[in-house]
Amino acid sequence: MEKIVIEGGYRLQGEIPISGAKNAALPLMCAGLLTRDGLTLHNLPLLADIKTLTQLLTELGCKIVNGHTVTILTPNITSTTAPYDMVRKMRASILVLGPLLAREGEAIVSLPGGCAIGNRPIDLHLKAFEDIGATIELKDGYVRASGKLKGGTVHFPTVSVGATENILMAACLADGTTIIENAAQEPEISDLAHCLVAMGAKISGIGTSRLEVEGVPELHAAEYTVMPDRIEAGSYAAAAAMTGGELELLGHNLKEVMTGSLDMLKQAGLVFTETDRGLLCRLGPEGRIIGINAVTQPYPGFPTDMQAQLMAMMTLCDGASVITETIFENRFMHVPELCRMGADITVNGSTATIRGTNKLLGAPVMATDLRASMSLVLAGLAAQDITEVMRIYHLDRGYERLVQKLKVCGAKISRAPADGV
Ligand code: EPZ
Repeated sequence: MEKIVIEGGYRLQGEIPISGAKNAALPLMCAGLLTRDGLTLHNLPLLADIKTLTQLLTELGCKIVNGHTVTILTPNITSTTAPYDMVRKMRASILVLGPLLAREGEAIVSLPGGCAIGNRPIDLHLKAFEDIGATIELKDGYVRASGKLKGGTVHFPTVSVGATENILMAACLADGTTIIENAAQEPEISDLAHCLVAMGAKISGIGTSRLEVEGVPELHAAEYTVMPDRIEAGSYAAAAAMTGGELELLGHNLKEVMTGSLDMLKQAGLVFTETDRGLLCRLGPEGRIIGINAVTQPYPGFPTDMQAQLMAMMTLCDGASVITETIFENRFMHVPELCRMGADITVNGSTATIRGTNKLLGAPVMATDLRASMSLVLAGLAAQDITEVMRIYHLDRGYERLVQKLKVCGAKISRAPADGV
């Protein structure tokens, strides 16, 4: 076990390369199951979640060499079972279900179970597969999907990123045309759709809530570059604001992919300037963080994956802020830890009220989930004295080379062995 040790109070200044998006890379890797010819992905982030999925795909018969560029070669699928001990480590493993079902006519995937932020059912995924001809059985904690897929109409009662991705991949090889209504519109879904089209899929309506997929007999080899991580970018923009610094986020198309976060961060006082290498971000001339009223929404609304990081920023705002979490039922676990650092936050149901303070105090804090752990790092960067963040395996799931990226911009931050927490 390791911890992160931060001596806070240093202004961040410099440039931060934004890695490939974790939440685009995971479904893109699963798309590699759809073709026997090999899918090459560039700009893959080196993260624990990517490693976990690589292990699972290898179990299923994929040949993959890990790195920033990988080729996923699946001449034959040697197993259609995603076992519990792998799926429980990362619930996005459920995204192998659609490709396995489409290619082999069968998929046996462990139910992912819940996680810290919510119980995260997969009913929307399963209903969608039934809508295109699959038979679904639940037994011994596994879901078994089988059958020949045929085009149909899928209408999601509520927006689901993963369910949209799963059915989109399966529909590419279904017999006939599939309509997906109320599809999630996150940029990561458009990234997946563009990659599938590069593999020979016929998809229209990309970027909208209505996707139309005309099934084809098979998909062929392709090369694709993973989009930059808009959540990582937003997280470091918050770091610039909280330390009164200036960071140039290096990445392609950041302004576009950061839509939901950018508007909110601007309301909070951040100024963004496009450069030929990315996006320069710093607080406005008054140098103050302005209180906001934020409600997390599906894209293009304010993303739930930025909620904890925005809350950390709001602990230092002028006046007060209100943040409402509408996507997950238990995504405020960073609140008690931030309060231990001197933040003034009260939670009432799904709404948190944050009264700005003029200083945070360093303290030993515990990470509970991926984005909560980033909010604690952000608070530590701004706090006086020393902050130690435990259980940083959460952080390693979604932030590539975080310590190195921050160190070169002036942060006093390092990893250290944690005494058995
Ligand atoms: C994806 O999770 C992301 N993960 C999450 O990012 C992100 O928070 C979430 O989308 C929302 O944007 C990846 O892309 C790997 P959903 P996903 O299906 O697909 C409920 C991070 O920090 N729901 O859009 O699981 C669900 O419980 C992670 O990087 C059902 O009820 O999210 C939730 O309340 C965390 N039934 C809501 O819908 C279902 O069948 C949105 O979930 C599926 C979902």
